[in-house]
Amino acid sequence: MTSRNLLNRLPQERHSLLRELGALADERGASLYLVGGVVRDLLLGHVTLDLDLTVEGDGVAFARLVADRYRAGLAVFERFATARLVFPDGLKMDIATTRRESYALPGILPTVQPASIEEDLYRRDFTINAIALQLNPGQFGRLLDAYGGQRDLRARTIRVLHAGSFQDDPTRIFRAIRFEQRLKFRLERNTSRLLAQAASTNLIQQLSGPRLQNEILLLLGERDPVRVMARLSQLTLLRFLHRRLSYTTNVKRVVTTLPKALVWWTGRFPDREIDKPIVYFMALSSESSQAVVAAMIRRLALSREQARKVRAGGPLADRVLKRLADERVVHPSQVYRLLVDLPDETLVLVLAKQMRLQQAAILSRLKRQLVAYMKNRTIKTALMGRDLQSMGLQPGPQYGTILGKLLDARIDGTITTEADERALACKLLKKGLSSFVKREASES
Ligand code: CTP
Repeated sequence: MTSRNLLNRLPQERHSLLRELGALADERGASLYLVGGVVRDLLLGHVTLDLDLTVEGDGVAFARLVADRYRAGLAVFERFATARLVFPDGLKMDIATTRRESYALPGILPTVQPASIEEDLYRRDFTINAIALQLNPGQFGRLLDAYGGQRDLRARTIRVLHAGSFQDDPTRIFRAIRFEQRLKFRLERNTSRLLAQAASTNLIQQLSGPRLQNEILLLLGERDPVRVMARLSQLTLLRFLHRRLSYTTNVKRVVTTLPKALVWWTGRFPDREIDKPIVYFMALSSESSQAVVAAMIRRLALSREQARKVRAGGPLADRVLKRLADERVVHPSQVYRLLVDLPDETLVLVLAKQMRLQQAAILSRLKRQLVAYMKNRTIKTALMGRDLQSMGLQPGPQYGTILGKLLDARIDGTITTEADERALACKLLKKGLSSFVKREASES
């Protein structure tokens, strides 16, 4: 296929948009290219959603022009001479200025200077990501592949462009694994040696928390995180999360069972979105001590919400699993109370842990408990605090206790109407009052 045809693989409206942008760049005397992952994916026949463009000229000025013309949202990152646009139909587009980068220190973000497209392609991570397609009219669809990107795509190879690549940007160590595992490619021999060399130094330690987090979560968000983790472990890269991270046989088993648990969960509760990378991270850290988990949360600069979830993995998931399997847990309200404060991610982890144990009866009981719980957690009481107040109860902690008991009774189906709730509340109030009187008497 000619490279002109390559752009025909894009949906019609994207294709026309790129043609229009090529013409617009031409009017300004600039050259415009489609670059990076999108070109790689087009050559592989994969679908990509976002578009990456680069301008030989002033990329930011061009981005402003495009945003204006197409009423797209615009965020400009002056320091990197890049801009991100979001079109009204949701299309995301990055527009940059072709540039060379210099790295003052490894692991730190580079300073950038305008440069030719060839130089721009040369500063990139791997040959397969260093191919461009020109978009100017007359050149529309011209392929620029100065570094053997197509050859490496055919040979299914990940290859750096120069020996200093991992030093320049240690995130590329993780990126190499991401593409290797996603595309089922191999690291070219010299690249593999350079990667091992870079990984044996403290380069990765110099990465900031957010940058390391981004790479780790992207890896765990790939289609097959199980293989990814095995590969990270093989290359002894898990130690950069924490040197005492326990990647035990047990952890491996839970991780391997997670995809099955996720399939069950999303099949049952399609509206309850799971943070997949975080659930894998929870599994990965599930046998590490609390101190190690806390240190990893800090190292990766996880958000408060992510941290809450990760802390609710491990031992807590084990305790919940044990309680749910307990024969004495018979009432739906008991299950509700056990699970109500837990993130959905913990429930998926609990399920994976049970699946791994291969106890069919307990597993189906657990699945029934989860289905019932997800239904029950939408149940509300008809009465509220102010109803209790109008029944003569002074505001205080008793409110929570009584409303909690009403909810439990609703969940267990022992009461079904507002009148039932009132009757039960009255009964509890009387009981509460008599125990209060008793307490007063014993204290005096
Ligand atoms: N790039 C690079 N070095 C990096 C990050 C990015 O050289 N550390 C270049 C690569 O050319 C890459 C492009 O910037 O293709 C876009 O980066 P990104 O969107 O992160 O990568 P994609 O290849 O699009 O990856 P994905 O398919 O996972 O989105």
